[in-house]
Amino acid sequence: MILYFTGTGNSKFVSDYLAESLNDEIISLNDVIKNKKKLKFNSERPYVVVAPIYAWRFPLIIEKLIRKAEFIGNKSIYFVGTMESQTGNCAKYLQKLSEEKKMKFMGFSGVAMPNNYVIGGKLPDKKEAYAKIKSAIPQIRSISDKIALGEKLHKTDKTPFSAILSGMINSMFNKYMVSSKNFNVSDKCISCGKCVDFCPVNNVIIKDGKPLFGEKCLNCYSCINRCPEEAINIGTKTQKNGRYVCPEYNVWKESKNKGNDSN
Ligand SMILES: Cc1cc2nc3c(=O)[nH]c(=O)nc-3n(C[C@H](O)[C@H](O)[C@H](O)COP(=O)(O)O)c2cc1C
Repeated sequence: MILYFTGTGNSKFVSDYLAESLNDEIISLNDVIKNKKKLKFNSERPYVVVAPIYAWRFPLIIEKLIRKAEFIGNKSIYFVGTMESQTGNCAKYLQKLSEEKKMKFMGFSGVAMPNNYVIGGKLPDKKEAYAKIKSAIPQIRSISDKIALGEKLHKTDKTPFSAILSGMINSMFNKYMVSSKNFNVSDKCISCGKCVDFCPVNNVIIKDGKPLFGEKCLNCYSCINRCPEEAINIGTKTQKNGRYVCPEYNVWKESKNKGNDSN
């Protein structure tokens, strides 16, 4: 069973690929979280959890969800992270978590996908994003092959100072930086409500025709990246950084089959 969480679609893309190639069931943790569904999963086949990397770890909400959830049936669990480039010591924490759950840790692998960290600088344009997705495919295929054979996954990226980054810096990130405090909405907003629909934790409501942000933000940046008018910003820093949303796997596959890799 593939369980995925996503902000801007990269982790869903990887999960859709794995679900297709492994002919396995796929569950959206966004849906589970948003609609407060039971944290009870049942699979005869190994569990595969796919999520973005936030500050060199799995998102805190996903670590907590795994800790709370009941996994019935198969006792093996794989982890796949999607990231811009670095996963730090993420694997170590996931191994510990698997042990707590009395499940067999089948390894972790990070897949470098386009960056969605809109506060950090300019995001890739469509052409750059497609090129990065294309270069990730052999690794996603290799992950799928390993899972199919019941082999362990291994981390492929290298992160200097990973113990500090995934440890102290990650804790500080979750404690002090994860917030929607400086989010603001420009007059370009058309009140379409996409930010409300896509927020995995129901942190956005529309008030007087504009989104209003609560205090549960995860900083997945789904609302900012998916806003069709680029109307949501963090202070003024994000105004010129562009936006990124991953193509749906089926759309990408179709365009690839037509020999059109760049749009
Ligand atoms: C809050 C936040 C923190 C991030 N931290 C990292 C990181 O530590 N290392 C990295 O390589 N990429 C980092 N990224 C980039 C994302 O992990 C990457 O773009 C991911 O594939 C997004 O997945 P999604 O589209 O499924 O949400 C971060 C992105 C966000 C929004």
